[in-house]
Amino acid sequence: MPTRRLGPFQVSAIGFGCMNFSHGYGQKMTAEQAKPVIDAALQAGTTLFDTAMLYGNGHNETLLSEILIAGHRDQIVLCSKGGMVAEQGPEGYRRRIDSKPQTIVQNCHDSLQRLKTDVLDLYYLHRWDKVTPIEEVVGAMGRLVEQGKVRTIGLSEVSAATLEKAHSVHPITAVQSEYSLWTRNPEIALLQACEKLGVALVAFSPVGRGFLTDSFEGLDGLSGDDLRQKMPRFLSPAFEHNQALQASLRAKARALGVTTAQLALAWLLQKSPAIIPIPGTTSVDHARENARAASLSLSHEDWQVVDRLIGQDNVVGGRYDAAAQAGVDTENF
Ligand SMILES: NC(=O)c1ccc[n+]([C@@H]2O[C@H](COP(=O)([O-])OP(=O)(O)OC[C@H]3O[C@@H](n4cnc5c(N)ncnc54)[C@H](OP(=O)(O)O)[C@@H]3O)[C@@H](O)[C@H]2O)c1
Repeated sequence: MPTRRLGPFQVSAIGFGCMNFSHGYGQKMTAEQAKPVIDAALQAGTTLFDTAMLYGNGHNETLLSEILIAGHRDQIVLCSKGGMVAEQGPEGYRRRIDSKPQTIVQNCHDSLQRLKTDVLDLYYLHRWDKVTPIEEVVGAMGRLVEQGKVRTIGLSEVSAATLEKAHSVHPITAVQSEYSLWTRNPEIALLQACEKLGVALVAFSPVGRGFLTDSFEGLDGLSGDDLRQKMPRFLSPAFEHNQALQASLRAKARALGVTTAQLALAWLLQKSPAIIPIPGTTSVDHARENARAASLSLSHEDWQVVDRLIGQDNVVGGRYDAAAQAGVDTENF
């Protein structure tokens, strides 16, 4: 697979988001179920793998220690995140964000234990709590680098201004943010800041949580705890409006002889060399299909047509509900 630069690493241009085995879309997979998907990603040349403490509150990292780390640790760039947990409350699970230095250090140690590895290649602050000064959190993460616990550090869902402050304390290797055809927020300022500072923009939910593919038809049949059940753009009547945009993207993909997911990923890759998408999947076929998108090349005209089909100007409905949006660093967003 073609590669991209992620700080000191050269990684597959398309990475793999492991969250989906444990969190977000209603399933918790066993090692037996998830291993063929990881194997397919590895066989397709994927070298960048993304997990977090949050995903199943440790379930995902423990699973990966068995099906990915054992046997493949030296061939991959392993990324995890800390500073956000899911807690059971009276109305179901709620996320708790805590960026205190001692919390991040403890979270990192716990992740290393669950993953059964001595060092993480990239360790992200999953969300900034906006209370602890960013300089203090990043200072603590920099000490984890000095101690050899992590090789590089990153941030997730921060603004350009926060990135610049953080980067002045310790080099930031990557910012991970939602970025896809239908979520253009990083275009406001973050992408430019990443390009200026030489920071990778790791694009999460790059196939729009399934929306920018050939198979997603709506919320019917999805489990009650599927995150999309609360996301405004997936809810009626916004969803029906957005489906018309989806249909035009699918038609363009068919005309080009690629799948809609591949078109969405190729669009991102050609937007900027700083971008590294990390689609997530529980399917062997989808893992192979997504990896193949790294080798696609869109003409300038086709790229522009796709760019105009779906975007901030015509999508209806926010990406998050109010509770999840509150966790995002909105300065400059
Ligand atoms: N930093 C953060 O706060 C944050 C937040 C969210 C996600 N992430 C990371 O980003 C990764 C990806 O994000 P995501 O899973 O939310 O969104 P995504 O990759 O845009 O979409 C995943 C959804 O799309 C479906 N899908 C994937 N490839 C497909 C294909 N080729 N054809 C049809 N359907 C396809 C998957 O279903 P199937 O399983 O059926 O393929 C799944 O339901 C996660 O695994 C996680 O590592 C980070």
